[in-house]
Amino acid sequence: MTETLDIKIAKADETRLSVTDFSELPFGKVFTDHMFTADYEDGEWKNLQILPYGPIPMSPAISALHYGQAIFEGLKAYRQPDGKISVFRADKNFERFNKSAARMSMPTIPEEIFMQGLAALINIDEKWVPNQEDYALYIRPVMFATDPYLGVKASDTYKFALLTTPTGPYYSKALKVKIETEFTRADEGGVGFAKTAGNYARSLYPFEQAKIEGYDQLIWTDSVTHEFIEEAGTANLLFVINGKLVTPSVRSTVLDGVTRDTIIKLANEAGIEVEERRVSVKEVIEGIENGSLTEAFAAGTAATVTHVGEIGYKGETYQLTDPSTRNISNGIAKKLNDIRYGLAPDEFGWNW
Ligand code: COI
Repeated sequence: MTETLDIKIAKADETRLSVTDFSELPFGKVFTDHMFTADYEDGEWKNLQILPYGPIPMSPAISALHYGQAIFEGLKAYRQPDGKISVFRADKNFERFNKSAARMSMPTIPEEIFMQGLAALINIDEKWVPNQEDYALYIRPVMFATDPYLGVKASDTYKFALLTTPTGPYYSKALKVKIETEFTRADEGGVGFAKTAGNYARSLYPFEQAKIEGYDQLIWTDSVTHEFIEEAGTANLLFVINGKLVTPSVRSTVLDGVTRDTIIKLANEAGIEVEERRVSVKEVIEGIENGSLTEAFAAGTAATVTHVGEIGYKGETYQLTDPSTRNISNGIAKKLNDIRYGLAPDEFGWNW
């Protein structure tokens, strides 16, 4: 049996629950009363604690700020019909966190610290888990380098934190997306598969440009030819082409999404043929034009399942089908939600 860890608990003097409007929960802005933190020093994780959510004192020289050793994850806890709380596929996010850590030359975090820290934090902030349709408690694990040293090297010290924020879906409507053919999110041999801060930083300028053109999100393409679709940055992408669920295969430039993996498993179970392979821009555009591409959606923890409504490519706008007619993605999204909220049997053992 895993030992129970010694987690110090310093409770907030008062809760902010009564001053929080649960009908107004923009993504990632409202934090719960507490957070969990741990420090990596002298080759081990120590100082496991739950403390009031708030600023973390740090040197302005910490290497995360200068050289970008910072990784994060996103997972969600859902209120069940009996009032209990379940976290969806926490083991997958834990695994991916450590894959990101390894790629960024950061220490991995032991499973018991990740899981027991999470359980202790959710228990203490239990009342913050929303009880509304489509709402959940978003959990943000993060690790960053804390050596106050300006030499370029992997840091010797790190901080790990778990933050929690009650939230609705990241996107509130079908997306107008632009296929990006100038800038790239990730390159072969790089860090695109890792959930590291720099991947998001480099996406911001192209994203801001696309927003000026009226788009909600980008579809990233490969860095060499710009002919193949990769992902959306905040989510993976899936299409229904000739009745099959088609999605770009994961590779060093594409994040191995937990929601993507879940959807593939649900589609397989429902007898829907799934193809994980390279998906060309040409295939998508021609599919929209000839009617063989009937559905397109983004899938991620924050994004959940969000329909793509319009695609922009080389100055042309391509209108997709009415989202309400999309039987495959709507069916899978419903099944996924039912499992997460405890309304359907959890056959895969995903709820913890
Ligand atoms: C998530 O889905 O949890 C993500 O990390 C996407 C986020 C960058 C909005």
